[in-house]
Amino acid sequence: MTYSASDTPIPGARCARPWAWRNLLMSDVSAIEAMLQPFGPKLELGSLVEEVNRLFHAAEAKDYDRRHPEIRDELPALWREMLAVAKPYGPAGGWHVLDFGCGTGFASEQIVNELGCDRVAHLTCFDASPEMLEKCRGKLQGAVREVRFTSSIDELLASPVKHHLMATNSVLHHLPSPYDTLHLLERVLAADAVYCAGHEPSKRYYRNAECQRLARAFRKEWKWRKYLSPGQWLTKLGDLFDRSSSPAAEAAEAAFAKGLFAQKPTTGIIKQLVDFHVPQSQTGHSASLGFDVETLEAGFGPGWQRLWSKSYNHLGEAPLGRLNAKWRGMLADLQTRYPLDGADFSTVWRRRDPV
Ligand SMILES: C[S@@+](CC[C@H](N)C(=O)[O-])C[C@H]1O[C@@H](n2cnc3c(N)ncnc32)[C@H](O)[C@@H]1O
Repeated sequence: MTYSASDTPIPGARCARPWAWRNLLMSDVSAIEAMLQPFGPKLELGSLVEEVNRLFHAAEAKDYDRRHPEIRDELPALWREMLAVAKPYGPAGGWHVLDFGCGTGFASEQIVNELGCDRVAHLTCFDASPEMLEKCRGKLQGAVREVRFTSSIDELLASPVKHHLMATNSVLHHLPSPYDTLHLLERVLAADAVYCAGHEPSKRYYRNAECQRLARAFRKEWKWRKYLSPGQWLTKLGDLFDRSSSPAAEAAEAAFAKGLFAQKPTTGIIKQLVDFHVPQSQTGHSASLGFDVETLEAGFGPGWQRLWSKSYNHLGEAPLGRLNAKWRGMLADLQTRYPLDGADFSTVWRRRDPV
């Protein structure tokens, strides 16, 4: 595997403990560090999270879209809502857009479709994984007047372009310290930039006993019903003949070969480092993992105002399009009584002068 300028860790993540982890309890950082100890990690935790993310997404890039159909099935409608909030703030000369953690280009595609290719004057697609970025280039090259693709944070930060709109979709939970990264990116954002942050995991869902109880009941029922579905059997059959290893297994091999660990890490360790702010069973479903929209707001600070937010998936990963009337009713009831407590949430922010 070759590495380019993207080898440089994101500078914002290099803060010393404990201030780098404002979203996580120190006991959870310690639990993750204790989990890592038997494998002899060779980097401090923040840099390890970034490196392992790169290796994981390098492996996942080849079939990311196939592995994550939920993104393209369920999120376009949500992005339409978010971009409708952003639209009135569009600059006369056209939007300069930054898609941070662009992956294969999902958010950029929504933005170009929704705002219109003639209204997007400049698009920057940034991803720490050059392999993901190549997939994005394949889709977005030539989509608007000016578009650039970069994996180098130094190149991005040195750029004179001030972006009016920043997008992240399902990215913040991969960053060691989302607040530090946001504050770093402020250098390349316009003074009144809009920030659409799509699809992040919510800790409020894990803390809501009723959502948890009903999600468990749903999973139990669905487990049996899904075996009646021919599609399920076809997928199982496909998996049986699929000889490729999982991105986590490939990343574990690559991380060991690169000398990031003294012992080859398990796939569980890799998954915890990749989805750094998402609860994993190994850490005992810690209360601090996942985000809370109100804590996020405090972490972003007075320089950012929340314009809009929406929480959804109150039954976890239940297949929304296939719920029967009973579960649709329960879902609607949870949404009404606990509007902020879905498993995922999206937000729109606007930058403002510090008060
Ligand atoms: C779950 S994918 C989401 C991709 C895309 N935004 C989408 O919605 O399909 C997370 C992306 O974040 C990128 N990523 C992870 N850590 C990053 C970091 N520290 N800086 C920039 N991008 C990062 C990964 O390479 C990956 O492409």
